[in-house]
Amino acid sequence: MTLWPEEDFCLREGAFRLRASGWQSWKGHALADCSCLGNARPFARQSERPFYLCPPSRRAGRRGGFFAFDKLAGTVLYDDMKRTRIAEVLTKEPIGHEVTVMGWVRAFRNNQFIALNDGSCARHLQVVVNPEQLGEQMLNRIKFGAAIGAVGRVVESQGKGQRIEVEAREVTIYGDCDLEKYPLQPKKLSLEYLREHAHLRFRTNTFGAVFRVRHALAYAVHQFFHERGFFYLHTPIITASDAEGAGEMFRVTTLPLDNVPRTPDGQVDYKQDFFGRPTNLTVSGQLEAELGALALGEVYTFGPTFRAENSNTTRHLAEFWMIEPEVAFADLEDNANLAEAMLQYVCRYALEYCTEDLQLLEERLTEEEKAKPQDQRSPMPLREKIRFVVDNRFERLTYTEAIEILKHSPPNKKGKFQFPIERWGADLQSEHERYLVEKHFQKPVILTNYPAAIKAFYMRLDDPKEGVPGPTVAAMDILFPGIGEIVGGSQREERLDVLLQKMRDMNIPEDELYWFLDTRRFGTCPHAGFGLGFERLVQFVTGMSNIRDVIAFPRYPGNAEF
Ligand code: 4AD
Ligand code: MG
Repeated sequence: MTLWPEEDFCLREGAFRLRASGWQSWKGHALADCSCLGNARPFARQSERPFYLCPPSRRAGRRGGFFAFDKLAGTVLYDDMKRTRIAEVLTKEPIGHEVTVMGWVRAFRNNQFIALNDGSCARHLQVVVNPEQLGEQMLNRIKFGAAIGAVGRVVESQGKGQRIEVEAREVTIYGDCDLEKYPLQPKKLSLEYLREHAHLRFRTNTFGAVFRVRHALAYAVHQFFHERGFFYLHTPIITASDAEGAGEMFRVTTLPLDNVPRTPDGQVDYKQDFFGRPTNLTVSGQLEAELGALALGEVYTFGPTFRAENSNTTRHLAEFWMIEPEVAFADLEDNANLAEAMLQYVCRYALEYCTEDLQLLEERLTEEEKAKPQDQRSPMPLREKIRFVVDNRFERLTYTEAIEILKHSPPNKKGKFQFPIERWGADLQSEHERYLVEKHFQKPVILTNYPAAIKAFYMRLDDPKEGVPGPTVAAMDILFPGIGEIVGGSQREERLDVLLQKMRDMNIPEDELYWFLDTRRFGTCPHAGFGLGFERLVQFVTGMSNIRDVIAFPRYPGNAEF
């Protein structure tokens, strides 16, 4: 081990400049020939003695910020990352370097080979221990589920199944795991069982993969919009407007429920409530996003959304996350183009950056599908399905065209639909949507121009069109294979008079929405937007069939556990 000559560093209060000459190493970390600027105060406070800083980019097998060590004591004073992530060890393969790894034991074979997982990637790292050196007591504690740390050299693996392994010279047990009581076991557990133990399910291969992919998708969403000049707008979660009519709302109140204050005529006296009026959890950030778009041009929201519908399906949650872009000077076609580009972008991102996780999820899905009858199995493996979405234009057609297809479809004629399609104007059920996507077109579909009567008040009224039996609006729903509706959106009604008429017809209180109407009163412009259900996207990409398995702690009727 070579230590730096002290004079190579000049450290001042505040900004420091770090200079060094040549490559050195300390405990396996390469210290580079470098020069950098930064703020030394946090380090200086820790010790009066000279210490050394190493910039992250030059440290072998490590990522993160700086670390500092005390030359005299030979100890690390500051390190924003005391361990090397297993993902990093496995990708960089820093053969010959000493690393410190920490994680949870997934398997322990022959009192020698530990499969260690720290959540940073799907793969486990093989840590080889010396049974004689560790002793029986320690060996007995290295069990499935235990949290341990190991320090050792990275070497090429002699065994099959992994290219490298860590020869541990030191093992630390952070947390024992009593297998008799541990709800997880080293065997296949059902998704239903794991849902009941959602606080621990992150520790399984499947859920590790799901939540890493979920993260990647969220990141890709932000990247997509940021690259295109959109601004991320944080719309409120508590709202006083319940006018959108997107779903049943959860009331937010601080009134004592066992002794609700009443007005003289017996109504609940909301004047005494926290906000002095009735408030709810938001069902959508759209109306507020529209206000933002009509000034900032392009905005998007990405936040939690709440609907108190009593839907116990594999596609509905009471609390879900929605991405809602809103664009000024855009029409329905621009909106469809944006949605298609976005879905393709985030799917491509997942294919590129989540290879191992998607492979694991693909294998899981293939296994799950073996239990299904042939005709219910997905025709493509998971990654091929995602690639298909990335590589192919979505089918675009109008509601009116879709109704014609559905009317003449074999399941409709044979009476196989639970809700037969008889007339124009019927709302499409998920069985119809899935028929169009999975059987008829076999690719994502953008359905547009729905009957005005079955869509929200804010959607722009279309000009009458020959062959279309009733008034339609510039709505669009995007339907995905295996999912059904993944996106709902529209061009918005920007004409004040048309909008007011629509609100009167649909009994939407004008005075409550004065702020929304003001954008139409002052400098209105054509604009459009949509809402993407984030969990439905995660479902599509991970191949998880139940939406409750793609959000950490699902909220649905009768369940708010954890
Ligand atoms: O179609 P929705 O209700 O549209 C809106 O809320 C509009 N304000 C969006 C907009 O134009 N800005 O919901 C949009 C999407 C659906 O297509 C679906 O993917 C998802 O949100 N979604 C749900 N996801 C999970 N659980 C639920 N209960 C959902 N309800 C809607
Ligand atoms: Mg919808």
